[in-house]
Amino acid sequence: MKKLLVILSAAVVLYACGGSDGKATDGKKDTTVQTTPGTSTAAVDEKALELIGSKGCTACHAIDKKLIGPAYIDVSKKYEPTADIIDSLASKVIKGGVGVWGDVPMTANTTVSPDEAKEMVTYILSLKNK
Ligand code: HEC
Repeated sequence: MKKLLVILSAAVVLYACGGSDGKATDGKKDTTVQTTPGTSTAAVDEKALELIGSKGCTACHAIDKKLIGPAYIDVSKKYEPTADIIDSLASKVIKGGVGVWGDVPMTANTTVSPDEAKEMVTYILSLKNK
């Protein structure tokens, strides 16, 4: 569990540092929130990441490597973030499912509300733009 938390906070830190393109900033942090149209904001991302941690998704998923389930970055590359796809992935997150990434099923995640599922899926599908 501790390791998962480390992975998760590493992801937050990575994201927080993203967008600076490695420019030297004299120790100053660029606090500008990136609001590229079609992608979510840092605050929204942070909330989605928290949900992903608190709802136990990280037991089977990591952002950039396959665990029991597919890496979220791979999920992001597979789907366009349209409303229909977000809806159907969100309902799969809640009910569980199998057969898209292999023979291992995703079990139902019954503590997740439809809104929370959409929030997480929207974030996951935005990863390819990060
Ligand atoms: C018990 C392990 C497990 C847990 C917990 C889990 N997943 Fe999954 N997840 C999987 C597996 C395995 C797959 C691949 C299913 C398949 O091949 O259809 C998957 C697939 C997915 C997909 C892609 C679905 C598709 O059809 O392409 C998304 C999105 C996803 N999970 C999000 C989540 C979120 C969000 C949570 C937390 C609420 C979560 N998962 C919790 C194992 C898990």
